[in-house]
Amino acid sequence: VEAALADGPLKGKRIIVTSGPTHEPIDPVRYIANRSSGAQGTALARSLAALGAEVVFVTGPADVAPPDGVVVEKVQTAKQMLDAVQAALPADAAVFAAAVADWHVTNAADSKIKKTKSGLPMLEFAENPDILATVSQMKTGRPGLVVGFAAETDDVVAHATAKRARKGCDWIVANDVSPETGIMGGSENAVTLISDDGADSWPRMGKDQVANRLAQLIGEALK
Ligand code: CTP
Ligand code: CA
Repeated sequence: VEAALADGPLKGKRIIVTSGPTHEPIDPVRYIANRSSGAQGTALARSLAALGAEVVFVTGPADVAPPDGVVVEKVQTAKQMLDAVQAALPADAAVFAAAVADWHVTNAADSKIKKTKSGLPMLEFAENPDILATVSQMKTGRPGLVVGFAAETDDVVAHATAKRARKGCDWIVANDVSPETGIMGGSENAVTLISDDGADSWPRMGKDQVANRLAQLIGEALK
């Protein structure tokens, strides 16, 4: 296996992949998070490693286990994820599949909040760092290829196209996560790849097939 991996098209390429949700504590037993199984990010890391890449897999608390053959950095919060990504740089490519929580609680409690205490807790929120935007907009040492994901509802391609421009990444992998698609938490995905070449909609396929196809394209882009 080692020999086969070492000869793949991504041999010698270092790629950072973020995956899973982040958990932002409210107190020692409670948190806020985005919904994410980590399945697509995990599949992508596995596909990249199978093509010979040296993968640093920065993952929040996901449902699925990290793949073999990658360097795993486990984190809880968005701030920790940003720190882990920055520590993993420089890289040839970075792919941000994590469903990062958008806010953290600034008045998180060190002790468990008791319901009996004083009515409803008053939580205060601050926006989390945008890891994808931070890396996309690096002035020096930016990875040659930066890929974001965009889980959207309604006008998916329009939302994702605007998001790509706003963040400054090279590609965005957009998908429609409306409940009726069954994609959230499922084993299949239907994505549109948005790049300088426009929007390319792929047929619905397994998340591991999406991962293989993306890994192939990343291999071609890094050649
Ligand atoms: N992302 C990130 N750091 C954040 C938020 C998002 O790195 N704090 C990355 C995600 O990993 C994904 C992309 O940005 O690759 C888009 O995430 P998304 O949640 O769709 O974008 P937001 O800018 O948070 O916009 P929205 O209001 O739609 O949630
Ligand atoms: Ca978000």
